[in-house]
Amino acid sequence: MTGRVAVVSGAGRGIGRAIALALAAQGRRVAVCDVLEAEAADTVAQVAAAGGEARPYVVDVTDSDAVQRGYLAVVDELGPVEVLVNCAGWDKFLPFVDTEEEFWDRVIEINYKGVLRWVHAVLPAMVEARWGRVVNIASDAGRVGSSLESVYSGAKGGVIAFTKTVAREAARAGVTANVVCPGPTDTTLLRDAASSRGEEAEKFIGALTRAIPMRRVAQPEEIASAVAYFCSEEAGFVTGQTLSVSGGLTMA
Ligand SMILES: NC(=O)c1ccc[n+]([C@@H]2O[C@H](COP(=O)([O-])OP(=O)(O)OC[C@H]3O[C@@H](n4cnc5c(N)ncnc54)[C@H](O)[C@@H]3O)[C@@H](O)[C@H]2O)c1
Repeated sequence: MTGRVAVVSGAGRGIGRAIALALAAQGRRVAVCDVLEAEAADTVAQVAAAGGEARPYVVDVTDSDAVQRGYLAVVDELGPVEVLVNCAGWDKFLPFVDTEEEFWDRVIEINYKGVLRWVHAVLPAMVEARWGRVVNIASDAGRVGSSLESVYSGAKGGVIAFTKTVAREAARAGVTANVVCPGPTDTTLLRDAASSRGEEAEKFIGALTRAIPMRRVAQPEEIASAVAYFCSEEAGFVTGQTLSVSGGLTMA
C-alpha cells in the first residue's frame, strides 16, 4: 500500500488537512488540492514536518478544466492516482426562504458537482488499474437534514446517493467508494457559520453540542481516521457505505 498516490480536495485546512496528514502517515504521497494556495502550502509543510511526502495543487472544484489540469499534473508529478478523497465544501447558514438561486448554484457547484468533477477525472484510470479507493465527505445534514442548511443538505444527500451508484458501477474493478459524514467539527467552516449568527454564536454552538450524545464537537483528526480506514487495503470489501462520525448525533 505504501507509496500509493492520494488526491485530497479541500486539503488546505480543517478536515481535509487532517486527512492529508493521516494518509501521509500511512505512507501515501499526497496531492494537497485546494483553491487557497497558501493554505495548501501550509498543509504540505505540516506533512513534510511529520516525515511524509506531499505536493500542493491549486484546484478550484467548481472549474472542470482546472480539475482536469490538476489531475494530469498530479499523475505527471506523483504517479497514478489510487486514492481520491473529496473534502472541499462550503456553506452559509440561512433559512431556505432567504436564499436565492445564485447561492443555490454556488452550494451545488462546490459540494455536489465538485465531487462529480474529481470522480469523473480519476475513476477511469482506477478502473483500468483494477484498484482504487474513493471517499467522499458528505455530512449528517445529508442524512437527516439540518436547519438553515437546506441546499447544502440536498447537495450532501446527493453525494451519498451518487457515491452508492459509483460503488455499484466500479465494484467489479476492485474500486471502492464510500462516504464519511462528519457531525459538527471544530473547523473554520463551523466557526464562520457560528459567527454569522453574531451575538448568538455561543448559543448556537451550545445548542449544537447539546444535540450530540457525546456533548462535544469533533476534532478533524477523528474524521480523518475514519477516512483512512476506507482508504486502506483492509477495507477492500467495504463499498457503498455511509459512516457518520458525529458522537452519536445520528444513529440510523
Ligand atoms: N466542520 C463541520 O462541522 C462539518 C460538518 C459536516 C460536514 N463537513 C464537511 O467537511 C468538509 C471539510 O469541511 P471543513 O469543516 O474542514 O471546512 P473548512 O472550511 O475548514 O475547509 C474546507 C476546505 O475546502 C476548500 N474549498 C472550498 N471551496 C473550494 C473550491 N471551490 N475548490 C477547492 N477547494 C475549496 C477551502 O479552501 C478549505 O480549505 C466539507 O465537505 C464540509 O461540508 C464539515
